[in-house]
Amino acid sequence: MNKDIIILGIESSCDDTSAAILKGRNILSNVIANQSIHEQYGGVVPELASRAHQQNIIPVVDTALKQAKIKKEEIDAVAFTKGPGLLGSLMVGTSFAKSFALGMGIPIIAVNHLQAHILAHFIDDSKKVPEFPFLCLTVSGGHTQIVKVDSPINMKIIGTTLDDAAGEAFDKSAKIMGLNYPGGPLIDKYAKKGDINKFIFGKPKIKELNFSFSGLKTSILYKIKEGIKDNPDFINNNLADLCASIQHSIVSILIEKLKKAIEITGIKHIAIAGGVSANSYLRNEVEKLARLESLYFYIPKFEYCTDNAAMIAIAGYYKFKEKEFSQQNEVPSARLPF
Ligand code: KG4
Ligand code: ZN
Repeated sequence: MNKDIIILGIESSCDDTSAAILKGRNILSNVIANQSIHEQYGGVVPELASRAHQQNIIPVVDTALKQAKIKKEEIDAVAFTKGPGLLGSLMVGTSFAKSFALGMGIPIIAVNHLQAHILAHFIDDSKKVPEFPFLCLTVSGGHTQIVKVDSPINMKIIGTTLDDAAGEAFDKSAKIMGLNYPGGPLIDKYAKKGDINKFIFGKPKIKELNFSFSGLKTSILYKIKEGIKDNPDFINNNLADLCASIQHSIVSILIEKLKKAIEITGIKHIAIAGGVSANSYLRNEVEKLARLESLYFYIPKFEYCTDNAAMIAIAGYYKFKEKEFSQQNEVPSARLPF
């Protein structure tokens, strides 16, 4: 009988340092060290992020091994995020992966962070996984894409954002309202008691399957400035309604394009992935769309939405099966295409 492959996954593309141990398609541990240092700056400061990764990487890997009850000698390969992401941050994970693998005499596997977000759906061999081909709406802090997924290693971007990402739209709107970074989860929380139709913002008119969020951001900024002119307490007095209306606007843009992609491709299986797929309103709206249009839909487990090494490990698993290994001269890439 074939032994299950054991993979150490390393993620360090932005401000989370994470290590995970995957056995077969099952996660034994997934440890994430968040960097709270960025909260006060309203966004991720790249230099501070790389320094924090350097401090975190060894304890995080050590904890992942202990939690999984796996000895480092049992690991078959190290999968790491090659990109896209912040170069200094990526370098920490890449260097660690290369050194660890060299020391242990095992192969390394370079992983595309955005493909890994999608492949998070395949973690856990007891769970129903998406059927190929499927459409995945990948929505994160840096990217917004509609991807046609033909297999775990064959994917094609069919729509993308022309400016800000959906996560950025959440975070920048939150910043305008004086909320801490990252503002997406806070908007989600405050929106629960708000009215989605209280404030109406400008809608982008972008062709085909592409997205734009910069106009919406400007529209939100003006609406809030106008409100403050009449009432200095405008934000506080309307926080729930503002959050609900902003969230509704962002999610409507996403759903509209997803619908269009379904129409164009005729694909009936849809998934969401990336940090913004943790958004409760988006999850509900996708479910609603699937019910209305009789689609099969897949929503990732909450803990695999935002950045984590479990998704890097599962992407590594599929590349391992194809023997897609990298060499020790592998380098990270801030703008890595598919
Ligand atoms: O995938 P991710 O962890 O990192 C990147 O690859 O960028 O995504 C982070 C983004 C942030 O913009 C954050 O505000 C957003 O995901 N996010 C959310 C929620 N949870 C995380 N946005 C809206 N609602 C949420 N519940
Ligand atoms: Zn991400």
